[in-house]
Amino acid sequence: MKILVTGGAGYIGSHVIRALKVAGHEPIALDDLTSGKQVRLGDTPLVQIDLASPGATEVLIDAFREYEVSGVIHLAARKSVGESVEKPEYYYQQNLHSVTNLLVAMRAANVMNMVFSSSAATYGSPDVPQVDEDYNCRPINPYGETKLIGEWMMAAANQSWGLRTVSLRYFNVAGAGFEELADTAVANLIPIAFNAIANKKAIQIFGSDWPTPDGSCVRDYIHVQDLADAHISALEYLSQDSREHSVFNVGTGTGSSVLEVIQSIRDVTGLEFEVDLVPRRPGDPAALSADVSRIEKTLGWKAKHTLDDIVSSHYRAISKQPL
Ligand SMILES: NC(=O)c1ccc[n+]([C@@H]2O[C@H](COP(=O)([O-])OP(=O)(O)OC[C@H]3O[C@@H](n4cnc5c(N)ncnc54)[C@H](O)[C@@H]3O)[C@@H](O)[C@H]2O)c1
Repeated sequence: MKILVTGGAGYIGSHVIRALKVAGHEPIALDDLTSGKQVRLGDTPLVQIDLASPGATEVLIDAFREYEVSGVIHLAARKSVGESVEKPEYYYQQNLHSVTNLLVAMRAANVMNMVFSSSAATYGSPDVPQVDEDYNCRPINPYGETKLIGEWMMAAANQSWGLRTVSLRYFNVAGAGFEELADTAVANLIPIAFNAIANKKAIQIFGSDWPTPDGSCVRDYIHVQDLADAHISALEYLSQDSREHSVFNVGTGTGSSVLEVIQSIRDVTGLEFEVDLVPRRPGDPAALSADVSRIEKTLGWKAKHTLDDIVSSHYRAISKQPL
């Protein structure tokens, strides 16, 4: 299939493009290159545009026809939680106009398959340590809200005109499937920790008195290569039949604490560094991991990589980045 991958020059999107090629599909990237990098795309064609801009629908319709696209994997989004709290209108404009433009263009060009990058941020701050997809979503920031509303838009298009849709709720994505595709943003725990080490600063641990086995927060870390493969499983599922909008958690089902991640970094790298125990951050749940029964049963997908695989692949990839 010819698949348009929005956000294809990004960290996860570039892994999805590689996975599509391995599975025999023909990806086309769409990206405005704000945080994405063209070098990640190799010879994959690029449609360079801000997907949320007013003229995007016409560009999309032309691209769908030119490349004979039959499906879209929609990853392009602004994704900083903190920035979304400071600039909610920007996040709504960017993340939701993008979905609107895509849906209008897909309907006009009769492109009927869509996989949507959603997030565990849709759950907000759950009061249970493990969530399944039926858990009541109550996002606690505009970023998470845009993801939940995006899911509703998928579901409405599915019901109204039969768009075949899957939303994948990613948990904490990390690692690298290829050394040239590192997560270069310093936004999640593992890149933040390595950045602190590189700058000879202590790694901050927010809260050491949480009700968890070692007192630090527990999260579900998923290797980006496993996540990329989940998109291929989702596309196969969509191509089987017309169905209701489906939502799947994508994680390992097993949480790792911040202290376990730190220990993994020590074990894998042998590096020496300090940690600094600082107070909790408001809004952080003590523990959050994915119930992955639905994706394992329905898509036959299961994460293969361990926490050490994630940490070592990230370390190898950032070691190869130009200084
Ligand atoms: N990284 C994570 O842990 C994580 C967790 C949950 C969900 N997600 C979601 O996964 C997706 C990809 O995230 P990522 O970590 O690869 O981030 P990223 O910033 O590396 O990739 C996003 C890409 O989208 C592009 N983009 C953003 N807005 C655009 C727009 N309006 N028009 C055109 N291009 C645009 C950027 O240039 C970038 O290449 C996002 O939707 C994000 O919300 C990520």
